[in-house]
Amino acid sequence: MLDRSGQTPQPATIHLKDYQPPAYLVDAVDLHFALDEQCTTATARLALRRNPARADAPPLRLDGQDLELVSLRLDGRALAPHEYRVEEEALEIPAAPEQCTLEVVTRTRPAENTALEGLYASGGNLCTQCEAEGFRRITYYPDRPDVMARYTVTLSAERARYPVLLANGNLVAQGEERDGTHWARWEDPFPKPSYLFALVAGDLVRIEDRYTTASGREVALHIYVQAHNADKCEHAMASLKQAMRWDEEVFGREYDLDVYMIVAVDDFNMGAMENKGLNIFNSKYVLARPDTATDRDYEGIQGVIGHEYFHNWSGNRVTCRDWFQLSLKEGLTVFRDQQFSGDMNSRAVKRIDDVTLLRTHQFAEDAGPMAHPVRPQSYIEINNFYTVTVYEKGAEVVRMIHTLLGPERFRRGMDLYFERHDGQAVTTDDFVQAMQDASEVDLSQFRRWYDQAGTPVLRVQGAYDAPARRYTLAVEQHTPPTPDQPDKQPLHIPLALGLVGPDGQDLPLRLQGEAAGQGTRRVVDVRAARETFVFEDVPAEPIPSLLRGYSAPVRLDYDYTDEALAFLLAHDSDPFARWEAGQQLAVRLIMARVVAPQAQDGAEVLAAAYGRLLEDSAADPAFAARALALPSEEYLAQLIPYRDLEHVDPEALHGARHAVKLALATALAERWQAVYEACGATGPYRYVAADAGQRSLRAQCLSYLVARGGRDGVTLAWRQFREADNMTDSLAALAQLVHTEAPERDQALAAFYARWQDDSLVLDKWFALQAGSERPDTLAQVRALLEHPAFSLRNPNKVRALIGTFCHRNPLRFHDVSGEGYAFLREQVLQLAPRNPQVAARLVSAFNQWRHYDAPRQALMRAELERILSAPALPKDVHEIAGKALGNGAGDAGAGSSS
Ligand code: TRP
Ligand code: ZN
Repeated sequence: MLDRSGQTPQPATIHLKDYQPPAYLVDAVDLHFALDEQCTTATARLALRRNPARADAPPLRLDGQDLELVSLRLDGRALAPHEYRVEEEALEIPAAPEQCTLEVVTRTRPAENTALEGLYASGGNLCTQCEAEGFRRITYYPDRPDVMARYTVTLSAERARYPVLLANGNLVAQGEERDGTHWARWEDPFPKPSYLFALVAGDLVRIEDRYTTASGREVALHIYVQAHNADKCEHAMASLKQAMRWDEEVFGREYDLDVYMIVAVDDFNMGAMENKGLNIFNSKYVLARPDTATDRDYEGIQGVIGHEYFHNWSGNRVTCRDWFQLSLKEGLTVFRDQQFSGDMNSRAVKRIDDVTLLRTHQFAEDAGPMAHPVRPQSYIEINNFYTVTVYEKGAEVVRMIHTLLGPERFRRGMDLYFERHDGQAVTTDDFVQAMQDASEVDLSQFRRWYDQAGTPVLRVQGAYDAPARRYTLAVEQHTPPTPDQPDKQPLHIPLALGLVGPDGQDLPLRLQGEAAGQGTRRVVDVRAARETFVFEDVPAEPIPSLLRGYSAPVRLDYDYTDEALAFLLAHDSDPFARWEAGQQLAVRLIMARVVAPQAQDGAEVLAAAYGRLLEDSAADPAFAARALALPSEEYLAQLIPYRDLEHVDPEALHGARHAVKLALATALAERWQAVYEACGATGPYRYVAADAGQRSLRAQCLSYLVARGGRDGVTLAWRQFREADNMTDSLAALAQLVHTEAPERDQALAAFYARWQDDSLVLDKWFALQAGSERPDTLAQVRALLEHPAFSLRNPNKVRALIGTFCHRNPLRFHDVSGEGYAFLREQVLQLAPRNPQVAARLVSAFNQWRHYDAPRQALMRAELERILSAPALPKDVHEIAGKALGNGAGDAGAGSSS
């Protein structure tokens, strides 16, 4: 699609306000596939019926993309050419009757499908990815989530190449032909939207287990992997059973088919997909063995297995009316998987990790050109809206409802939501309405969280009146403007808080006007732009502990002294608030060094606090590891506009952070060493929270010991690398060595490669470590690795490991003032764009924050964005991100105006 200038024309924008119910409904789908990697033929029989909700009787239009139409029959009669119209992305049959059966035969070429949407080949097997709009690449269909139908699917293929044939639901028949083909028929009794359709054909082994539901139903659990991975499925299977039990216990939700299948594939655009009864997973979120996977990987597998399983209710049984409602299923399901992981491991540590992700990446998104509400009002390419805002901020919005209602009423709301909407495609409004109806809590103002973009700033001031024994908190909220939304309304914000007395104990809380106190921790409702909360009978001047548990996704601004922060870090009864006090202390110190790089002192308060943390670290090593970790460069960069600093200078940030790290490493040298040694003995590897916590604390200590520079740290890391009997310890050591110039670095990388050259997932770690190195030669190494035989642009995991890590996770080297990092990204985006637009669009978003950098970097990034936009035939995925980054169409309101 080129216009006369040779440039890609501006792609069309879809608006929520234009939503119309579908013209036709589909009662049943009967699909037959003759599967083959080179050419697959699909025969679809659709039982169609005009939608009574559309009085305007629009014509029958089906979506379709990159399809070869073979034949078309309406109620058994072949259609003449004048009776239908084939467009670039649609098939229209103007005179279709009220009710009819349409038979469409189409052909596709799976082996040539590099976009990994629709039907494609991965590792010699065939699989599908239909969310969001991939089904239209398989057959002509009304490919929208509010069209729900019952599917019967018959697969036939050459038996030798494709011994396993899977689709959604239950297997109802199978057979063999004399020509070497075999077939299988699957029936899914639950009506579903097309995005949940899936099929798999290939040579896979099956790992089996069983599960008995609370009401006594027997469910077969099947995990399918390539034969050489059969010994890496134990953790995924255990996680699945945990998730099934947890959803019964916490939400009263049972599984509803006879079989639950998970298939692992190596080439996958995202993490995993919740297709009804047949989840398809990026193999990264299935495969684990102690020597190949880290504790983080184990945790990720447990979380993603849970996430996809929980979708069976929050997503599949109740689905989305349209893609603007994506957070209805994603925000809710992320909230559910977070609660699950919190229950299986450490609740506090899980919360800290989730908040870190939100504040690093979602806050940045909200402060840039792609800022959008949890329920967006428009999009060009829906694949670009599977964002941290829809997922993580969406989960925070559900969490706030949980906080406002309390666990019992929240559960009643969930029950009502499932009861009211089972089998329906609904909106986020329907969700909030169910919560409100079941709880009788007024959520009318709260709904603004779904429609208003941007991160609110909560400015709080405290004042103690000693004679009156009264403590007053003055709270102001303000949301900075975002593109398309210059004016913001006040939000309903649950503010969880406590008042910490001079002895470190929580004081009883009684709000003015209340007869009796209400314990020592409570949630106050902030609704207006300015509010005041007055606490009575406060015996001594307290330090307020605000936003406990991170009760709302806001930036909190309270002017604590360093001593008050150190006090909270030592005493706060809320672990999140403790951790946060330490982070704020560290942020302050690093930012001070950004402004005055020569400053030598100021680290004493933080060093003393870290010293106490190290002393007590054995009580909760996982927590200590987080509390002792300095905020990342990405997190700090995102804070810059809120610290009255003009521009992000990645080198200055890196230098300041490193200086603080060095000061802490030096001041506490013996302690790091002592705790490192004390954490050494966890025995043979097991993924259990206690052991994983020790390993993460040990890794944290090692990073300080190496940060001191010199041989001692390197020697320690090299020893840990050689002696490790598990991937967690091995990788933690290599992750330190990789930044150094020591000879052990290359020795370790070579040894790691030699050992793991046949394990693609482990090699992803090897690529990523090198791409994330602080060394000045990193870009040269990354360029060399592009030519490595194990690298492939066709495999999204490889792209993310090498190119994604360099551009998104290595600010020091990506933002090199030469602009070479930027040119590299432009080259790679343009290479990838025609093959895999979805992954290319994710890469190009590394330029989104360009306006926050200094003038020379701004000019360089802008020039690369312009080069990308002027490329011919740019897919709309990349066009949308690059165009919005440049501010085409919508002005960039930026994050600079927080006050
Ligand atoms: N629904 C999936 C999930 O959150 C997300 C997903 C998987 C996806 N594959 C995709 C979204 C491809 C868009 C395109 O679990
Ligand atoms: Zn999901």
